Amino acid sequence: MQVFNRITDLRKYIDNERKAGHTVGLVPTMGALHEGHLSLIGKAVNDNDVVVASVFVNPIQFNNPSDLDKYPRTPEKDAALLEKNGCSAVFMPSVEEMYPEKVNDHYDFGQIEHVMEGACRPGHFNGVAIVVRKLFDIVRPDKAYFGEKDFQQLAIIKKMVRDYNIPLEIVPCPIVRDSDGLAKSSRNMRLNTAERAIAPKIFAVLSDSVKHYKTMTPAEMHDYAIRKYGEIKDFNVEYVEIADETTLCHLDSWENCEHARIFVALQLGPVRLIDNLRIF
Ligand code: PAF
Repeated sequence: MQVFNRITDLRKYIDNERKAGHTVGLVPTMGALHEGHLSLIGKAVNDNDVVVASVFVNPIQFNNPSDLDKYPRTPEKDAALLEKNGCSAVFMPSVEEMYPEKVNDHYDFGQIEHVMEGACRPGHFNGVAIVVRKLFDIVRPDKAYFGEKDFQQLAIIKKMVRDYNIPLEIVPCPIVRDSDGLAKSSRNMRLNTAERAIAPKIFAVLSDSVKHYKTMTPAEMHDYAIRKYGEIKDFNVEYVEIADETTLCHLDSWENCEHARIFVALQLGPVRLIDNLRIF
């Protein structure tokens, strides 16, 4: 596996692979890799001749400086895991390499950007859109892989690709969970033993709530989930939202909705965790 820190070097490598007629898959990450990321790599390796992963903790998508400081960074371990899992190249740029000057782009993706994570983390999705667009420009992949755990991020990236006619396919990948249901996340490694023991209840409440969709309205399901989370004293819920999967619009009724999903964000000790689950 080749390791690149400079954009020009990575571009040369991609140009040569393209000249050889090879297809290119991109897996953008912020490192601290876990099985969730490795499932994206596995799918990308299966679909493409060449797979490039990026490992870059993108400062402009953090609205909270202490969250950025504490974000786990394990570059050597990440590189070893990527190599072992069949990645062809990893791009690990410095902040200066990615942002020699401040980027002033302001995206407006409408409704899908202003709810849930967008409402709680101002500027977050603008920072995500800027870095993902840059990575698309640098790598020009045929396919790019994103996990459904960050479901709203995935919806925004799909919209960016449509809005700007970016010639690639976005491949959504299902959430990977520990055997007790906790969604894999780089942030899980910051949970202490007691917090880690409680964390699976995030998914348990989602699973329990969705079972009631035939007898509950969306508002009733929302209140049910809030009540269940409220019974766990260490959870500090930021939001529970029940939304249409395509538009991310809040649902008042199940009618005229092809697929509905329940979303949660909560604080557990020092760690902010998110999860989601399809209702139907
Ligand atoms: O999901 C992530 O890890 C990040 O938001 C991404 C897509 C790599 C952009 O920094």
